[in-house]
Amino acid sequence: MAKPLRSLAGQVVAITGGGRGIGRATAAALLAHGARVAIGDIESELAERTARELGGGAIGLPLDVTDRASFAAFLDQVEDRLGPLEVLINNAGIMPIGPFVEETDACADRMIDINLRGLIYGSKLALERFLPRQRGHLVQIASAAGKFGFSGGATYCATKHAVVGLSESLRQELRGTGIGVSVVMPTVVNTELGSGLVMTRGFKPVEPDDVANAIVEALQTGRFEVYVPKSLTGMVRFVALTPRSAAEAISRWIRGDQVLARPDHVARAAYEARMEETIARAAKEPPAPALPVEPAAPAAEQPAPEPQKAPVS
Ligand SMILES: NC(=O)c1ccc[n+]([C@@H]2O[C@H](COP(=O)([O-])OP(=O)(O)OC[C@H]3O[C@@H](n4cnc5c(N)ncnc54)[C@H](O)[C@@H]3O)[C@@H](O)[C@H]2O)c1
Repeated sequence: MAKPLRSLAGQVVAITGGGRGIGRATAAALLAHGARVAIGDIESELAERTARELGGGAIGLPLDVTDRASFAAFLDQVEDRLGPLEVLINNAGIMPIGPFVEETDACADRMIDINLRGLIYGSKLALERFLPRQRGHLVQIASAAGKFGFSGGATYCATKHAVVGLSESLRQELRGTGIGVSVVMPTVVNTELGSGLVMTRGFKPVEPDDVANAIVEALQTGRFEVYVPKSLTGMVRFVALTPRSAAEAISRWIRGDQVLARPDHVARAAYEARMEETIARAAKEPPAPALPVEPAAPAAEQPAPEPQKAPVS
């Protein structure tokens, strides 16, 4: 007999990068299931506006996932206003694309900071809250780019592979604690981030609502691996069993090698302008250090330094 679905009514859910796109659609879907939803976004006015437009008691708050203090303050406010956090959806992410050797270090740093470092901060801050209560669910928004490599998106793929690896590790580490983990891996989704990309043969464009519904289902069932569309599951399993040269030939045939490599820059202009702005701003104002620097202990209380050991490797 199928397990009964978990109710989401009254659950407190925080969504990062929820001002638009997949995050916004997920907020709407969760509100429709009776959840209490907080939207965090680096564009704080957009977060507030989205919350107002969605209604249902949703709140919009400022959040920069790359700044640990901002993330902690966001979750504190969510708990003060809505109650104990039960679900964190680590959704904020960026995808500036182009040939790897032409990518600036500032661009790579920004992607790593938002897509990976921010998700690590969020996962730790949420788990600090979940573990004493022995309940909670982390939803990590990765991508099909967390399972396959795509020309034109090397650093993006690296961050998403890292998110998949982190999620697989956390699933093992959290076994038996009552805390769930899901990793969500969509193909190209019809949002600003996905604008102007080449579609692969055999896959229809996915809408943000499709991803939102898959997230709702994962929370109801506790599913770990969430592919959107579901047919991607078969492709991942097939490729895992196929010799690399054959898998790459199939990928080329379905235009997988063009998805991130041949964008329509006109259709993508608004997104590319937003990316240039976020990368330039971060390069000028690097985020505050993650942890406060402890004042040095008085010299007398400092333990004697350990004798130097030979390096292990
Ligand atoms: N759209 C796609 O084709 C697609 C496919 C697979 C996976 N994804 C992943 O889904 C997630 C959402 O993507 P989307 O398509 O909705 O993108 P989007 O650009 O439409 O929305 C992302 C939101 O994140 C916010 N954000 C950016 N930096 C932030 C920061 N430092 N702190 C807080 N918020 C920040 C943005 O302001 C924006 O509102 C991303 O992680 C993305 O990698 C997207």
